[in-house]
Amino acid sequence: MFVCLGNHCRSPLAHGYFEHILKNHDLDNKIEVLSSGTSGWHLGEPPDSRICHVAEKYGFSLSHIKGQKITRHDLETCDMILVMDRSNLRDVLNIDRHNQFADKIKLFRLFDPESTQEDVPDPYYSGIFEEVYAIISRTCDALLTHITEQDNK
Ligand code: 4NP
Repeated sequence: MFVCLGNHCRSPLAHGYFEHILKNHDLDNKIEVLSSGTSGWHLGEPPDSRICHVAEKYGFSLSHIKGQKITRHDLETCDMILVMDRSNLRDVLNIDRHNQFADKIKLFRLFDPESTQEDVPDPYYSGIFEEVYAIISRTCDALLTHITEQDNK
């Protein structure tokens, strides 16, 4: 599960892109992808139209994704919870009151092969959608390599 603040820009893009590359690797029936926000500001809404356009430009769709708020149940059921920034990390760790799931809650950019920063910048006000696409796509590519390597061990 990919998590950001609104489940409106960053995590839906990671959700759609990761599904897209899973399909290209014939792994879409092996790994389930979800996304959510730490806020409920965009519950039930489609992702931001600007990020939907970026996805379409790169050959995949976000039209099936609807805004959701992360719950404690998600911490129990998901194998990996990947958060877009340190503020999301704090908020998700706060849901995990008894510190049961900390092992599977990680900053998404830990997997970024080019990263010098910990956070995926929030494009909602800044409009840096192409930069966010570049970060999210290369990090998802590296994440998939990591998961398939783990699986082969
Ligand atoms: P996200 O971006 O966390 O990447 O979905 C945002 C989307 C909406 C808002 C803030 C951030 N908002 O203030 O509504």
